[in-house]
Amino acid sequence: MSELDDQKALDRIDRSGMRELLKRFPEQLSRAWDLEAELPAFRQIIVCGMGGSAIGGDYLRVYLARKGFPRPVFVVRGYELPPFTDEETLVFAVSYSGNTEETLHCFEQALRCRSPIVAITSGGKLAGMARESKADLISIPKGLPPRAALGYLFIPMLRSLKPFLQDLEAEFQETLNILHRITSLYAEAPEEENPAKRLARAWHGRIPLICGSFLLTDAVARRWKTQINENAKSPAFYSALPELHHNELMGWERLKQFVYALLRDPAEEPKLKRRFELTRSLLEERGCTVMEFQGEGRGLLARLLSLSYLGDWASFYLAMLYGVDPTPVALIEELKARLAR
Ligand code: PA5
Repeated sequence: MSELDDQKALDRIDRSGMRELLKRFPEQLSRAWDLEAELPAFRQIIVCGMGGSAIGGDYLRVYLARKGFPRPVFVVRGYELPPFTDEETLVFAVSYSGNTEETLHCFEQALRCRSPIVAITSGGKLAGMARESKADLISIPKGLPPRAALGYLFIPMLRSLKPFLQDLEAEFQETLNILHRITSLYAEAPEEENPAKRLARAWHGRIPLICGSFLLTDAVARRWKTQINENAKSPAFYSALPELHHNELMGWERLKQFVYALLRDPAEEPKLKRRFELTRSLLEERGCTVMEFQGEGRGLLARLLSLSYLGDWASFYLAMLYGVDPTPVALIEELKARLAR
C-alpha cells in the first residue's frame, strides 16, 4: 500500500489538521458567500494584502478581467499604494490576522487618500482601525491558517461586486457542486486514482515549476507555488506564458531536477494553446517531466477554484511524503517576531 493511502500514518504527520481544513473548503465557500459589503461608486479597485491574504486579489483580478469588467484592478503586495489612489479607488484591505504591517500601512494611506475601504480580517489591529475610521469591515472567523481561509478572503470581494456580474450566482453554485464532488476524490481515493497524490509523488525530491497563462491561470500558478512552499516546506517556482518563452526557457539547459506543471484552460486564445503545445514538446525533448492540468466546470470561477484546490491537496500530500506537518510556518512567524522587536 502507498504511504499516501495509510490514513493513520498521514494523521500522525498532519498533527495540526490541515486535511480537515481542506475537506471543509466547499463548506467555507458557502459561508463566505453570505459576507458582503455595500459598495459606493468607484472607478478602480486596489486589493492590498500579503501572502495567503493577497492571492484572493489575484483571483479577483483574473476573474473580473475575463468577465469584461471595464475598470482596472490592482493587487498591492507591499507598503505603498500607487500614487493614483484617490477617493474613487475602492480599496480592499485584506489581512487574515489583521496585524500584517504592510497591509496596515496601506490602510492608513487609503484613509489619507479618502478612498472607500473595505477591510476583510478575522480581527487584530486592522479590525480596530476599520471600526475607528468607520470603514466597512467584513469580519471572518478566527483560528485558521490564512492560506486555509481562501474562501473567506476571496469570495466576499466577489460577492460585493455581484451587481456588476450577471452570472455570478449560477457560477458560484456550479463551483460548489464541483468542489463537493472532487473533495472526496482528493481526500479519499487511493494513489493510483487520485490526481493530487500522483502529482505529489512526481514532485517528491524535485523542484516543482508551475506554469500558468497571463490573466487566466497565472493566479492559480502562484497559489500552487505558495502552497508548496508553506505546506510542504519545499522550494517551488511559477511563471506564465507567453512571458516564459522570452526568458525562462533558456534555463532548460539544466532541467533535470525540475517537474513542470502546465495549468491550462479552455478559454486560452489559439496563440496561447500553440505556445503551451510547443512548451510541452520542447520540455519533453529535453527529458523533462511535464504534466498538464485543467480546472473543471463551464464557468471560469469553478475552473479557477477547482484547479486551485488540486494544488492545495497536492501540496498537502507532498508535505506527507516529506514527513512535515503542513500547518505550522515557523520561519514566517519567526521573521514577523524579529521584525516586531
Ligand atoms: O500563509 C501565511 O501564513 C502567510 O502568507 C500570511 O498570509 C501572510 O504573512 C500575511 O499574513 P495575514 O494573512 O495574517 O495578513
